[in-house]
Amino acid sequence: MSNKLFSPFSARGLDLANRMVMAPMTRNRADGNVPNDLMAEYYGQRAGAGLIVTEGTSPSPNGLGYPRIPGSFNQAQADGWKKVTSAVHAKGGKIFQQMMHTGRIGHQANLPAGAKIVAPSAVAAAGQIYTDSQGMQAHPVPHALSTEEVKSTVQEYVTAAKFAMAAGFDGVELHAANGYLIEQFIHPHSNRRTDEYGGSIENRLRFLVEVASAVAAAIGKDKVGVRLSPYGVFNDLPPYSEVEETYTLAAKKLQEVGILYIHIVDHSSMGAPAVSDSVKASIRKEFQGIVILSGGYDVARANADIDAGKGDLIAFGKQFLSNPDLVVRLEKGKALNAFDMGTFYTPGPKGYIDYPVAG
Ligand SMILES: Cc1cc2nc3c(=O)[nH]c(=O)nc-3n(C[C@H](O)[C@H](O)[C@H](O)COP(=O)(O)O)c2cc1C
Repeated sequence: MSNKLFSPFSARGLDLANRMVMAPMTRNRADGNVPNDLMAEYYGQRAGAGLIVTEGTSPSPNGLGYPRIPGSFNQAQADGWKKVTSAVHAKGGKIFQQMMHTGRIGHQANLPAGAKIVAPSAVAAAGQIYTDSQGMQAHPVPHALSTEEVKSTVQEYVTAAKFAMAAGFDGVELHAANGYLIEQFIHPHSNRRTDEYGGSIENRLRFLVEVASAVAAAIGKDKVGVRLSPYGVFNDLPPYSEVEETYTLAAKKLQEVGILYIHIVDHSSMGAPAVSDSVKASIRKEFQGIVILSGGYDVARANADIDAGKGDLIAFGKQFLSNPDLVVRLEKGKALNAFDMGTFYTPGPKGYIDYPVAG
C-alpha cells in the first residue's frame, strides 16, 4: 500500500501540502455570529491539514439556526473571517468556507431580529434545538418559501460567496448534506412543493443546482465544492426509496456545472445507516472532479481508498478537533489526544484551542 495521504495534491489551481482535509465542524464560538481572534487561533493551529473546511457558516440571517454560528453576509463577518484565512495562509494552509443555511433546523430565539425560520415546505423537524436564551425548544413549523423567495435565497448564497472570497478564502463548500436547507429541498419528506422546486427528483435537485451554478458563475467553478450525504437521516429525514437515482443525477448535474469537488458524508461509523458502495461509485463515475471521502477514517483505510481510486482526498473530523497537529501525529505514528464531547459546542477557549501538540 502506498502512503499517498501525506503526499502533495494539485488540481485546477488547488495546491495542497497533503491529502488530508479537516472536515467541517460547527463549534459555536462565534459570539454575535462574527468570527473572532479565538477562531483564528483554532484554525491557525490546524493549518497543517492540506485543506481546512470551516464550520457551517450561514449565507443568510435566516440560516443562523444554532447559537453562536458564524455568518458570511455582512462586512463585519468578512472582516472576522479575514483574520481566520490570514492565520491559515500564514502557515501555508488552504481553507474553504462551508456555506450552511440551517433552514427548518433552528429556532427564532437563535435568529437576529427580522430573520425567520424558512424551509421548502411547512414541515417541522421532530425533536428539539438548543437556544442560549430559552434552553431546549421544539423545532418550529418553518415558513414555506415562495417561489420568489427561493430565488432570492439563491442570491443570498451568491452574495455570501463573494464576501467569503473577499475575506481571503480559497473557495466555498455548499453544505447540501445532513438535513440542512439544501438537503431539505432534495428530500421528499421535507420538500412537498408543487412548483418547479418540488415533485420529481430533477425538481428537488433544482435548488442545489441553481445555487451551485450561481455561486460558480460569481466566484469561479474551481472555487466551489458541494457536500452530500446520501442515505443520511440526520435532522429528521427518514429513509426513502430513490436515493441512488437522486445522488447519481446530482453528481451528473454538478459535473455539468463543473464544480471543483464533491465531498461525501458517511456517518455509518457514528451509527447512521450505511452509505452503499454503489452510490459512492456512481458519484465517482458521473463526476470527474475531485472526490473527498469522510467518516471514521484512519491512515490505513484512507490510503487504501485513495489507492483503490474511490476518492482523492480524505477528511478527518473529530481527530482534527482534538489534535491540532494531526498530520504530523498520524505520519509519525504518535498517540492521539482523545476528544471531549462536552466542549464541542460550548463558548470559550476550553476544549477548543487548548488541545496540546505532541512533544
Ligand atoms: C462537533 C462536530 C461538528 C460538526 N459540524 C459539522 C458541520 O458544521 N458541517 C458538516 O458538514 N459536518 C459537520 N460535522 C460532521 C463532520 O464533518 C464529519 O463528517 C464527522 O465528524 C465524521 O467524521 P469523523 O469520523 O472523522 O469525525 C460535525 C461533526 C462534529 C463532531
